Amino acid sequence: MPSIEIIIVAAGSGLRYGAPLPKQFCLLAGRPLLMHTIDRLRSLLPEAGLTIVISRDMADFWQKLCSDYKFMSPRIVFGGSSRWESVRNAISSSDEKAGIIMVHDGVRPLVDSNIINGLTEALDDPDVDGAIPAIPVTDSLRALRSDGLSESVDRSIMRAVQTPQAFRANCLRQAYSLPYRDSFTDDASVMEAAGFSNLRLTGGSASNIKITNPGDIAVAELLMK
Ligand code: C5P
Repeated sequence: MPSIEIIIVAAGSGLRYGAPLPKQFCLLAGRPLLMHTIDRLRSLLPEAGLTIVISRDMADFWQKLCSDYKFMSPRIVFGGSSRWESVRNAISSSDEKAGIIMVHDGVRPLVDSNIINGLTEALDDPDVDGAIPAIPVTDSLRALRSDGLSESVDRSIMRAVQTPQAFRANCLRQAYSLPYRDSFTDDASVMEAAGFSNLRLTGGSASNIKITNPGDIAVAELLMK
């Protein structure tokens, strides 16, 4: 297996969350959420290089948290105004020797070994450019139409996509050298736009939730038990 570099993006302002603090710094089971995410990946992939992306404005606050919680911070890169810019900043200063780059949302503290194994197994196939954990959609779906009405969608062919997503480092670097598009909601969409279409879906987990709303912290605490 080629060497792995993990990028954890945590430079969002958390506006949707509505809390005074960006959600990645809120307490989960008595510790800042981002520390849980870092510890999970450190224990799942102890050999991998690890970088976190935080906003420049939160750098002093993060250092203070690390000192208060006696936590060793990974390498820090400053983020940008979009997730895409934050990932691009980390990639441009990432280890040139890494064969695989995994990009993970700092607000997904419950990533597990099945997800990581699925990603690394998929990338054992040299033809695969990237691997993306995904789960079936349980809600019924409707697509908005331009006339303001909506129509049903075949749910069986839809998947909800999670992180970490893992890519051949050279492909991801190339993909992130292209200009930004509004359609970039994750790293797989950036890869696809650059022509890297051999992206394999692997097993995600319903527990691998993205902390988005205030109630999600309580759900994550329950799932951790
Ligand atoms: O905004 P969203 O929930 O999609 O963010 C997903 C992840 O991307 C979060 O961990 C967030 O901190 C990160 N992000 C970032 N830089 C931004 C926006 C989001 O690192 N400018």
